[in-house]
Formats: sequence, C-alpha cells, structure tokens
Amino acid sequence: MADRLLTLEIFRYNPLTPNIPPRMQAYQLRETPGMSLFIALNQLREEQDPSLMFDFVCRAAVCGSCAMLINGRPNLACKTLTQDLPDKITLMPLPVFRLVGDLSVDTGVWFRDLSLRTESWIHTDKTFEAQGLEERMDNPTALSIYEAERCIECGCCIAACATANMRADFMGAAFLNRIARFLIDPRDERPAAQVFEVVGTDEGVFGCIGLMACDDLCPMEIPLQGQLAFVRRKMALAGLWGK
Ligand code: SF4
Ligand code: FES
Repeated sequence: MADRLLTLEIFRYNPLTPNIPPRMQAYQLRETPGMSLFIALNQLREEQDPSLMFDFVCRAAVCGSCAMLINGRPNLACKTLTQDLPDKITLMPLPVFRLVGDLSVDTGVWFRDLSLRTESWIHTDKTFEAQGLEERMDNPTALSIYEAERCIECGCCIAACATANMRADFMGAAFLNRIARFLIDPRDERPAAQVFEVVGTDEGVFGCIGLMACDDLCPMEIPLQGQLAFVRRKMALAGLWGK
C-alpha cells in the first residue's frame, strides 16, 4: 500500500473573504509508511499550500483539536492513518461548530457555553482546604468518574448527531456524559432535581432520538448511550423516590 499517490479533496472557505465562495480543492501527495492525516496535511501546507487552515496541538489523540469529517465520518486526523483509507480522501470541517476556515472549527466556545449552562463543576458548601487530606472515594466510583472524564471535547459525537445538526440548543452526548460524571461524584451536593431541571428537557435527555452515531464514532470509545441511559435512570429514580 505504501507509495500510493493520494488525492486529498479538501474543503476551502475563509469566512474573512466571503467573496470567494466555498469550494473543494484537490491536492496530490505521495504516501509514506505510517503516514497519518496529520503528517499529510502538514506536508501539504509546507510544500504546496501555506494558506491551508486546520488545527493540531498534541498529535496524540489527547487535545481533541484535529477532529474533522474524514470521508464523511467525524474522526481525529492525528490518529487516522492514510493506509486505512482509500486513495481518494475527502476532508471537510465538522458541522455544528463555527467555521474558522477550511478544516478549522471553533469547538471551544460551544463547549464553554454548555459548561456554563450545565454548571459543570462540583457544587459543595465545604470550604476548600489546600493543605487538607484528599477526600477518599471507593475505587468503582473513581473509575466511573474517570471513564466519563476521558472525553477530550473533540466534538465528533456532536458533529455525528442528527439532533445536534438540526437544533443548536441540543446538549449532545458529550454533555450528557458530563452530567453523568457529576451525578456519579459524591462530592457534588447538588439536589438531583436541580440537575434534571436543566437536562430533563428536549435540549437534554429527551432530545436524543437514539440513532447512536455518537456511540459509534467517539474516538475515545466512551459508552455514550450507556451514559445517557444512566442519566435517564437517575432521573426516573429521582422522580419516583426523590433520590
Ligand atoms: Fe469527543 Fe467522545 Fe468527548 Fe464526544 S464524548 S467530545 S466524541 S471524546
Ligand atoms: Fe490533539 Fe489530534 S492533535 S487530538
């Protein structure tokens, strides 16, 4: 497979120059062994087109900034090898998020807004003691929180979600996962009713139509439908027994 001539069809549009309409631009590139899309895009920018816009920070599936539509599916460019793709590769920016230019989108503002809307922090009346002992937690609880915390906020689940594509106010799987994380955490003293007032709505758990693309396409393989089911279960318990 090495030594193939790859054709990369890349979406081009710069919102700062609206007089130039959006278009697809084709580039050709000789594949090298172990080439990732991160390497391919950097090579294109260095050798063929310095105006190409895309985002990378960590190059190791940690920062979430390189997510894009790769042959129509949201994924991280830094962990996608060209050898796993056909000779012709189409790259588009993630939908739903504000386009910065070409393949670069602004996921930060979107995630920040939702963090504020869902109050994604521990609510407690306890005073923080910087020198105090760390609060103990049993292992299964700590592991469940860790599972939810593996989200790198790449936005793939949001871009893949039919509801999020149709409705700007839908929280999406990443945030229902975040809500699950705080419901599990015994340090968060928020009454359940306060949480469900925000997420027990059409913008929250009831907006999901169960197509499961989020679960299929999360590059971190977080069980997103399981997290959604957990939030719904907690809500039902809160409704029945006030737990
Ligand atoms: Fe990305 Fe998965 Fe987090 Fe969604 S839940 S933002 S797909 S890591
Ligand atoms: Fe950080 Fe790809 S560059 S996740």
